Amino acid sequence: MSDREETGALEYHERTSHTPRSVRRASPGLDFENKPRPYKIYEALPSVELPEAIRSPQQPALSVITQPGPDGEEGRAPDLEALAGLCYYSAGSTKRIRRGGREIEFRAAAATGALYHVDLYLVVGDLTDLDAGVYHFDPRALSLDALREGDYRGVLATASGSEAVERAPVTVVTTSTWWRNAWKYEERTFRHAFWDSGTVLANLLSVAHALDLRAEAVLGFADEPVAELLGVDPAEEAPLELVPIGAGGTVPDAPEPEPIDPETRPLSDREEEHPLIQEAWRAGVLPDGEAAREWRSAAVEASLGPPRTGDGERIALDPVDHETESKRPLHETIERRGSCREYDREPISFRKFSTVLERATRGTPIDARDPGGPALAFVEAYLIVNGVEGVPAGAYRYRPEEGELERLMAGEFREEAGHLALDQRLAADAAACVYFTADLDRVVDTLGDRGYRLAQFEAAIAAGRLYLATYAHRDLGGTGLTFYDDLVTEFFSPRAEGRAPMFLYTLGRPA
Ligand SMILES: Cc1cc2nc3c(=O)[nH]c(=O)nc-3n(C[C@H](O)[C@H](O)[C@H](O)COP(=O)(O)O)c2cc1C
Repeated sequence: MSDREETGALEYHERTSHTPRSVRRASPGLDFENKPRPYKIYEALPSVELPEAIRSPQQPALSVITQPGPDGEEGRAPDLEALAGLCYYSAGSTKRIRRGGREIEFRAAAATGALYHVDLYLVVGDLTDLDAGVYHFDPRALSLDALREGDYRGVLATASGSEAVERAPVTVVTTSTWWRNAWKYEERTFRHAFWDSGTVLANLLSVAHALDLRAEAVLGFADEPVAELLGVDPAEEAPLELVPIGAGGTVPDAPEPEPIDPETRPLSDREEEHPLIQEAWRAGVLPDGEAAREWRSAAVEASLGPPRTGDGERIALDPVDHETESKRPLHETIERRGSCREYDREPISFRKFSTVLERATRGTPIDARDPGGPALAFVEAYLIVNGVEGVPAGAYRYRPEEGELERLMAGEFREEAGHLALDQRLAADAAACVYFTADLDRVVDTLGDRGYRLAQFEAAIAAGRLYLATYAHRDLGGTGLTFYDDLVTEFFSPRAEGRAPMFLYTLGRPA
């Protein structure tokens, strides 16, 4: 995988990095007249209504947000009600807020700019109460648009070479419709695709776990056949991840899918082109199922090396056990989650802080990760701690294997934290800022440009779980934030030298 083209992921990353200068120079103002709708609306497809009374996942969020392996009962398949819960609690409209005379809709998972460019498709075999077919989840109507009739799961099995997909009664496919996010974020949307699908999948995997359904995120698949199956053009909308749900039997061979191009309502008057998104996407395309299988094995084997050790002072985290953890149910945690807009500077409890970090980073069922390997396989977390009871303010590296923080620098770094986060006060006021970082040169050397997607995604799904673990506690709040890339690396250097920040999450006490 060393014959990468020059216009690959690393160059994309470099060219879309934020610096104080690039942010000052960013294009002025947004054209609200041309803002894309946050939905995909098909003009003429039959639809299947999802049950209105959704079975809400009652288990405590803290018990179900993490499952390092695919988990779930063998032979178990979802029914329509389970599918409704899976879709609603990961990509559904959970609240509406009136602001400035306009009603704004918010969804189950955090998303950059609340632009909601990630859609869910379901590729389904015959279920007890749903015919085999390919469907699109419509969060507006809480229904499924029927794109194809028949059992096409074999297309995904062949495209991915994944055993989990081969055995799943249903596979969810996530996509990003670039323009829906690029209207505001332009070329950076390719990063946001993995950030925003990561938060959605943190929810989806948790709900699947709560329903005792096997589920994992599959990043290795041939892109074109999946796009063709969904009837989407990757120049506009591209598949990001597959999530096989449930396990039992083997999917039958699929019929050759006829090309489809269902009519959809325009997103806005005009759409602008963003060539770097296309290039970054194309650079990571896998040609066929065999390539996907090879990529997956290489990723599972790729030991990106033991985390760099240092001799900084260690602080052992002290998470609560399942007996004494907060019992806030998963459904309530998701319904009440909303990115914190202001923190006060009151310190948060060390035990809650420990619990949030520990539960969110126990390892994720990703096809490209060895379930027996390190909890965070491709990323490392660095922190600025300014307000956690009993933890001296400072910069730290989190060592999930040991359950410890290792101190890199002592001191209060509120001003620095605010500056690193594009000069946003939220980061200065937060109790802690968590920066997931990756050694991108090494990731891309080992796993090609597809590895870039993986590093972004592993960071994002851990951050999505941090959101859930935070909101499992009634007195905590959190939010993802954007950052100046190189300044974050510099701040944590020399330890973080050569590492690039992928995702920044902050938590604290909401004001
Ligand atoms: C990856 C990511 C980055 C974000 N960056 C910022 C940010 O820089 N500033 C900010 O105020 N909010 C940021 N947010 C929060 C979003 O604005 C918020 O998720 C969105 O408005 C939806 O609202 P909700 O999370 O309350 O449902 C970010 C969220 C994510 C997932």
